[in-house]
Amino acid sequence: MDNKVNIRWVEETDSTQEELRRGLSGYDNLSVTAALSQTAGRGQRGNKWVSEKGKNLTFSILLKFGEHGFPPLPVSRQFDISKAATLGVISYLEKRGVEAQVKWPNDIYIRNKKICGMLVENILDGGKVAASIVGIGLNVNQTVFDPSLTNPTSLAIVTGGEYDLRLELEKFTSILASSFSRVLLNNDTGIDKEYESRLYRKGESHEYVSCRDGKVFEGVIVGVSPEGKLRVHDKKGEHKEFAFKEINYII
Ligand code: BTN
Repeated sequence: MDNKVNIRWVEETDSTQEELRRGLSGYDNLSVTAALSQTAGRGQRGNKWVSEKGKNLTFSILLKFGEHGFPPLPVSRQFDISKAATLGVISYLEKRGVEAQVKWPNDIYIRNKKICGMLVENILDGGKVAASIVGIGLNVNQTVFDPSLTNPTSLAIVTGGEYDLRLELEKFTSILASSFSRVLLNNDTGIDKEYESRLYRKGESHEYVSCRDGKVFEGVIVGVSPEGKLRVHDKKGEHKEFAFKEINYII
């Protein structure tokens, strides 16, 4: 399988997620669409993703499975895609001298601030993942943010540098492609340990809201299950598992 990334830049689009979805059948595995500006950028949980024009990286990468892509991936392993993307983002940031963590499931944090968000949208076919569109919004050169955003930061704020977006995207996507290959092609199981070692707040006691009953509870994150559920021990030592949207962090 060819590990080459194909990057296409557009000046403006509604969302790079939609851009890739519209042309899905015509694009190869590891095709990337990046935009200088998105008019309807999407975040997790139906939120908008707002990014200052030309300042940040907003792009989506297409993963295909089967004949012209990665080996078939059962739906039960779809969280591997998030894990691989997360470790790719963290490894890229490390190359820029920044130590980052993953706030489960899809946010990349530097201490208590968010530098990057990911939106993983899988297209399923029976019990398998046919394709995945991984959208990444990384704050790069933006230094002033809308006050309504919770805890944003950027590479420029953290390092004091200014970055060429096109050069950064080339480096970033080549690291991401290696990470996807490591996990989805070579089944490197070492990533589970690596992922957990980068888990924001792991082993610390903090307050969370359970979305099942709206109650605040104190707990300690102990890991993530193979299907991608967050494992938490509450104060009484009871083991709990939360799927996406079932728990909110209090930061
Ligand atoms: C989040 O943290 O809520 C996820 C943000 C994902 C944003 C990226 S920007 C590129 C791609 N296109 C979109 O519309 N969304 C993702």
